[in-house]
Amino acid sequence: MRVERKDLLGIENLTRNEIEIILDTAETMKEISERAIRKVPYLRGKTVVNLFFEPSTRTLASFALAEKRLSADSFNLSGSSSSALKGETLLDTVRNLEAMKIDFVVIRHAMSGAAYFIAERLEASVINAGDGTHEHPTQALLDLLSLKERLGNIKDKKVLIVGDILHSRVARSNIWAFKKMGAKVSLCGPPTLMPYKIENMGVEVSYNLDEAIQDMDVIYVLRIQKERQRGGLLPSLREYIELYGITLERFENAKDDVVIMHPGPINRGIEIDPRVADGTNSIILDQVTNGVAVRMAILYLLSGGKSGEVSEA
Ligand code: CP
Repeated sequence: MRVERKDLLGIENLTRNEIEIILDTAETMKEISERAIRKVPYLRGKTVVNLFFEPSTRTLASFALAEKRLSADSFNLSGSSSSALKGETLLDTVRNLEAMKIDFVVIRHAMSGAAYFIAERLEASVINAGDGTHEHPTQALLDLLSLKERLGNIKDKKVLIVGDILHSRVARSNIWAFKKMGAKVSLCGPPTLMPYKIENMGVEVSYNLDEAIQDMDVIYVLRIQKERQRGGLLPSLREYIELYGITLERFENAKDDVVIMHPGPINRGIEIDPRVADGTNSIILDQVTNGVAVRMAILYLLSGGKSGEVSEA
């Protein structure tokens, strides 16, 4: 089966069937990374630009590895080393790149909607690697794959997303993703960091973490995004830890088999105690491993690849 679209811009517009095709393809892509020679020819002759206007470790590295493992020609261009610093517009930047004959732009940008903006104007496929506070779809897909591996089906599982929901593109993509797959999604965080009318997305909202944590199957901890805070929204970090940190004491009050997730990078000792982040309930590094497979799957499917034909390579 194919994913009949040029771009991957968000989870909101993906169907459940498309998500399942991506996850099935990622499972077979994962096997390629276990081989002695981690390389297949699916993207031979294709050119990919990783255009990152914000810092990244996991997303940039895993896209770069995914492209190499699929035999694509690729390069990274960062905002701080491009002519954007000299005043070139985003549109001029990507039109100049397209003039050099490229097939994919993987873009991370501080402006919500940046990926949509360029996708409408380019023939190349665009993959959203995080746009402002809007969406981070490949993160949500790797999170779904990681949960599928740990829990099987997540239908009716209780998932709690904790922290700075207001600034989190990961939260927004994951609310769509978890709900499309049938999970029951709850949010907990400071009232100042909870978006207005977020309940309209079909989620429960609470502000008392000690109560919210009970009976949860999954606790998804968000990073405190210090770089996106505006004045007065965040209490002091000490107060944040006290009220919303996943401390060892809180973790011990959760279900024995609760699954702990975090998109990274972690502020150790702030939103999560290191002993919880590194404990046996945590699948944080599995999420990172699955990032490569999911990004391989997306590049393969958007280039016209068919799910089910991967293992024959
Ligand atoms: N989860 C995530 O997007 O991490 P990076 O910012 O390091 O890419």
